[in-house]
Formats: sequence, structure tokens, C-alpha cells
Amino acid sequence: MKHLIAPSVLSADFANLQRDIEMVNSSEADWFHVDVMDGVFVPNISFGFPVMEAIKKYAAKPLDVHLMIVNPDHYIERFAAAGASVITVHYEACTHLHRTVQAIHAAGCKAGVAINPHTPVALLKDILVDLDLVLVMSVNPGFGGQKFIPNTLNKLRELKAMSSAINPDLLIEVDGGVGIQNLADLIQAGAEVFVAGNAIFGAPSPSVMISELKQLDAQLKS
Ligand code: DX5
Ligand code: ZN
Repeated sequence: MKHLIAPSVLSADFANLQRDIEMVNSSEADWFHVDVMDGVFVPNISFGFPVMEAIKKYAAKPLDVHLMIVNPDHYIERFAAAGASVITVHYEACTHLHRTVQAIHAAGCKAGVAINPHTPVALLKDILVDLDLVLVMSVNPGFGGQKFIPNTLNKLRELKAMSSAINPDLLIEVDGGVGIQNLADLIQAGAEVFVAGNAIFGAPSPSVMISELKQLDAQLKS
């Protein structure tokens, strides 16, 4: 089974973005997690296309784009053109989710759906077969550095059971308050992609922290 580490660029130093991207390039991390916030779906604004294009210019690993925006359908082709490998939209922001997922695939990207802490996993049952990834939010989206919500572990276990039955290739991603202290529990609950912002960029040495996250990962796998 694959276990991936995805540092969240939201916690990088935007005045030294090239430096931080190159640190991730030369680290053991697998993906770049790119958080796009519109100030409507979530109470914060992060960045849009110019910054995403700047990230792409230096990033040597796939861009995992997490859209915390309303009307994501309007922008899917542009995010694909800007270099996204994975595009994840929020369940709560999509009225015609099946159509949105098809549009992501048509744009040549892997399709993900994110669910907020209050959204039941069971609501994904009829879309699961069409997805490459489900992102379980373990904090309320909008900000880095928040505290992990423990009920996420139950949601991950439920999603893992559902995906084993319906779509065994599905990747399960967890985002928010993830770090060395809860990684083992999250792996055991079924998560496979780990987004970490503050835990990595707030560490004395981000690349050492990435390595520790990967090593813990490897120990548990064996
Ligand atoms: C929150 C974002 C996260 C955030 C995670 O809305 O989706 O990706 O950057 O940051 P940490 O790991 O600091 O909780
Ligand atoms: Zn995110």
C-alpha cells in the first residue's frame, strides 16, 4: 500500500517560495499540497493562479490542488493548465458533483472530493466509484495550524471499509492537524496521503521532519 506525504505550501514562507519548494523537491515528500481559498467557501483567502503558476515553475513533484472555493467548475480547466495533477473539490460546494468529477477527468487530472468535519462519509457512496481520492478534513477548512478533530479517525475507518468494497484503488487523504504525534493512528485508520503544513514548515528542520514522517510510515508498514 502506498503512503504519501504532501507538505502544504500554505505554511511555506511566501517571501522565500522558491527556497521552500526546492526544499520539498530535495526531501522525501511525495506531493505538494496546494490550498486555494476564495473567502466565500471558507473564511480566508489564500492565493490563486499567479502563485500556483510560480509553484509549478519550480516544483518537481505532483501538485495536489485542494479547492476550497464555490463554483469550482468554472476554474477546473485553468487549474489543470496551471499544472495540477490532482484536483480536489469540496462535496459541500458542488451541486452536480458527478459532472464536476467528469470535468476534472476530462481536463486530464485525478479527481478528488473533500468532506468537511460535519459531512458524513456515507454521502460519498454513489460517487466513490468515480473518484481517485477522497480528502477527509480533520479541521474546519480555512487555516493552517489548527487542532486535529479526533472523530476523523472514525470517519477514516468507515471510508476505508466503504472503499475496500466499492473502489479499492481509492486514495484516502487526511488534511488538518496532522503530524508525527497522530500519524500512526491515522495510518491504522486507513489514511494513505498525509497533508502537513505547520508540522513540517514550523519544524526546526522541515526536511528532517518530512524524513521522520516517512520513516515512521516505513516502520509501521513493515
Ligand atoms: C486547511 C488546509 C490545510 C492546511 C493544513 O484548510 O486545507 O491543507 O494547510 O495545515 P496544518 O497541517 O497546519 O493543519
Ligand atoms: Zn488542504
